[in-house]
Amino acid sequence: MKKTLAAITGIGGYVPDYVLTNKELETMVDTNDEWIRSRTGISERRILKTPGKATSDMAVEAAKRLLDQLKMDPLEIDLIICATVTEDMSFPDTGTLICYKLGAKNAFGFDMHAACSGFLYALTTGAQFIQAGTYKKVMIIGADKMSSITDYTDRATCILFGDGAGAVMLEPAQDDDLGIIDSVLYGDGEGKDVLYMKAGGSLNPTTHETVDRKEHFLYQDGRPVFKKAVAGMVSSIEEIMTRNHLTNEDIDWIVPHQANMRILTSVAGMLDMPMDKVMVNIDRYGNTTAATIPLCLWDYRDKLKKGDNLILTAFGGGYTWGATYVKWAF
Ligand code: UT7
Repeated sequence: MKKTLAAITGIGGYVPDYVLTNKELETMVDTNDEWIRSRTGISERRILKTPGKATSDMAVEAAKRLLDQLKMDPLEIDLIICATVTEDMSFPDTGTLICYKLGAKNAFGFDMHAACSGFLYALTTGAQFIQAGTYKKVMIIGADKMSSITDYTDRATCILFGDGAGAVMLEPAQDDDLGIIDSVLYGDGEGKDVLYMKAGGSLNPTTHETVDRKEHFLYQDGRPVFKKAVAGMVSSIEEIMTRNHLTNEDIDWIVPHQANMRILTSVAGMLDMPMDKVMVNIDRYGNTTAATIPLCLWDYRDKLKKGDNLILTAFGGGYTWGATYVKWAF
């Protein structure tokens, strides 16, 4: 029996209003606009400054735009999966808080912690519930308030990250062949010492000393991550293309996690893929971790056509990485 595909039927995105420019960062750390633009491709990023507002609030804004587009009532939603590394608190889950704030009273929610690959992990997981026939409406959100774990005295990281959220709806495909076709996902733990938060978990619980050592902020040694990111994205894209008999000409869009413009051009170059097929918004938002891929889809929504072949790809903390082949359904 042919499996029902899960199709993306709508998209919503949200970024906060406050724009943190390279010029403002120059007043905070020893950096400069030219270095940031040439080494990362980032010009500005958005920061959630409103007191009392968290990752779930940005997620809810993205979710509301998605529901408006679909003219869907929150009560129709069965499940919400939120990919994030900046959950509002350790527990309850951000997914649960989103259900509450959105009024999705018939849904349950949970979080997916896979850093920059979180959205792909969550999308693939959500698709299984649709394919199995268990649920009909599964919302997948990627949301991160990276400013809450960024050390604004560390020039190696504070120039990179921003805040934002993106959401998609998964429903049983109306057209047999349009939807989430295939995914390859990986995670190996090899990157655990080069991209992580040193304290605040069960290994090193928070103490005055860990806070004094600023171990509650994200730590990254960027150079090894860069090399692995290019290799991981290229190999997973090649694998999924081979498995699905796709040539470069078949691909309409590559939708990569946005960590560094030089990673994107290297990946495109190694695959011999023109940059006009690669979605880019890192210049305006920086690296929003789990939110980069749905925010790209949101930004490019008017350019997407029914039947387009998309390869979504990510690489991030863990390491975690992968690629997902989507035939755009609307
Ligand atoms: O999303 C999760 C996955 N993350 C990634 O994929 C990130 C991958 N890594 C990167 O994107 C890059 O490695 C960074 C953007 C983080 C850093 O760029 P880089 O070209 O690898 O720079 P680097 O760390 O090798 O540093 C080069 C130089 C150093 O100076 P010296 O030692 O050559 O004198 C740094 O101290 O640039 C210096 N530097 C800076 N200078 C001005 C580092 N950060 C800055 C800065 N402003 N903000």
